[in-house]
Amino acid sequence: MCGIVGIASRNKVSSREVIEMLKRLEYRGYDSFGYANIEGTCEKFIGRIDGKKITDIGSKVSICHTRWSTHGGVTKANSHPHNDCSGNIFVIHNGIIENYLQIKEDMIKKGHRFKSQTDTEIIAHYFEEYIKSLPIEKVVETFFKEAKGEFAILLIIKDDNKIYAFKRGSPLVLGVGKGKNILASDIYAFSNITDDVIFFNEDEFAIVEDSNYTFYKIDPKLKPVKKDVVKIQWAQKEETKEEYDHYMIKEIKEQPEAVKRLLTSLQYEQKNNLDSLKKMIKTSKRVVFIAAGSSYHASLLGVSFLNKVGIETHTSIASEFKTFNLIDDNTLVIAISQSGETMDVIEALRGIKQKGVKIASLVNVPYSTIQRMSNVSINIQAGQERCVAATKTFTNQVLTLAYLAHLFGYEFNVNNIPEKIESIFDQEDHIKKLAKKLKYKKDIYIIGRGYVYPIAREIALKLKEIAYIHAEGMMGGELKHGTLALIEDGVPVISLIPKEDRSIISNTKEVEARGGYIIPITNNPEINYPDKFIVKTDYELHFCIMSSIVGQLLTYYTAKEKNLPIDMPRNLAKSVTVK
Ligand code: AGP
Ligand code: GLU
Repeated sequence: MCGIVGIASRNKVSSREVIEMLKRLEYRGYDSFGYANIEGTCEKFIGRIDGKKITDIGSKVSICHTRWSTHGGVTKANSHPHNDCSGNIFVIHNGIIENYLQIKEDMIKKGHRFKSQTDTEIIAHYFEEYIKSLPIEKVVETFFKEAKGEFAILLIIKDDNKIYAFKRGSPLVLGVGKGKNILASDIYAFSNITDDVIFFNEDEFAIVEDSNYTFYKIDPKLKPVKKDVVKIQWAQKEETKEEYDHYMIKEIKEQPEAVKRLLTSLQYEQKNNLDSLKKMIKTSKRVVFIAAGSSYHASLLGVSFLNKVGIETHTSIASEFKTFNLIDDNTLVIAISQSGETMDVIEALRGIKQKGVKIASLVNVPYSTIQRMSNVSINIQAGQERCVAATKTFTNQVLTLAYLAHLFGYEFNVNNIPEKIESIFDQEDHIKKLAKKLKYKKDIYIIGRGYVYPIAREIALKLKEIAYIHAEGMMGGELKHGTLALIEDGVPVISLIPKEDRSIISNTKEVEARGGYIIPITNNPEINYPDKFIVKTDYELHFCIMSSIVGQLLTYYTAKEKNLPIDMPRNLAKSVTVK
């Protein structure tokens, strides 16, 4: 996924300062990071930025990169920046060059020597090869013709005061400062430096210097293009951990506030946007959500809420959207994405946009690609979320979807939601005790039926990604069709039991009869197991949100017991910007 930063400045900027900007992009990947400047200095490190001894070097033009590996293991050699044979060209890249092997073979035939297993390195050699005989603009043009896949690339050449920046697919933005221009994967990298921003469109190339820049469109030949500078209203403030050990617990605890902020915003500031969205839904034959991960789980609830009020609604996992064929002129597509940058979602939206279908979205990050692609977008107002796990953003997505359904008659009884959430926090000691038992478990099953089934899946995802426990969220009725064979003495099964659901009680009994260790989350006073959690509510939306928060806390404390890197779990990134 990777985060990239490049700075061209009239005065020298310290490498440490540039890497501080990069730190804000670590949510995009944290396998390794590296720095290079036009004096030819290059430094690379494995792992996260915090705690590393970065040499303090000043330079007027430098680039740096935080990596989420796609091609080639997590090694120093595979870390970016990559360079050519002469050592004069440095490249950083976010994305995947799909046909890199073919280009690599070609370069090897031409005598180039490769030092890494990445797709990225071919870019440095490609430019080394062709700038011998062509102006760099021409090389960029041919690169766009030859390279397949997605890329946001920053390239610098030794002793040349410019950054060459070009992109297809992956996000790239220019921050226009005084005597300095900064290129980055997102605006937050330079939020303390400038409010003036230029977003790159698809297939654009820019030559950036300290006090000026020139943009070109590749169409398929290079043409200069005039770009608008957008003034950013910073809606999200930079969050810190405050007194908490991890962002995850801070973000879980922020939920009562995040919910209040969302509800006020939906009723007032975002009312016009919601009215437009309501009109779009009314005039469409069907609604189709596109989302991934936790956002997909929220969308499953969205389907249930909207279907309840008679609106034909479907959802598709973004990466599987190609197989979904219910899209026509009468369909409204609603993308749900915390980051607004998930490549699977963006890919799906691109195809739809070409067909002229209207797009709406629910996002958390303002100015994100998905927000900018949408005809109308609602912000879920959760505030910055730093932990890889979606917690407060999941809750606010669910609430926003319920609010949307409420505009069509769905019962929406949320005034006391913040207190309901607090009532879950009151059970924290009980959760901590349970975490001490769960930390030894290899598998956990979570079962639910009907509207709580998406919560079973959401809890399972949390346990997998943060507590590293294999977990499966299932429809209660499906157990007996196979998975029940895996239940033996002591296997934990979290059962989501809303009062009105008698069938899930039978499913729970079936597990108990096979020795399963039952952990019920319920509002039914008749349910009696030693490790039960009570959610005090009679209302389905509350039940979903409250039981999901029990799952969040259980995950957090289990991961803490296991001493895991909770906010940045292995192999993952907060924003998944590759396919
Ligand atoms: C959630 O805990 C996950 N880290 C992940 O599944 C996430 O929800 C998914 O990558 C989608 O991200 P988005 O909402 O930013 O599109
Ligand atoms: N493909 C490049 C690598 O593996 C960049 C990865 C990315 O953007 O996620 O290093």
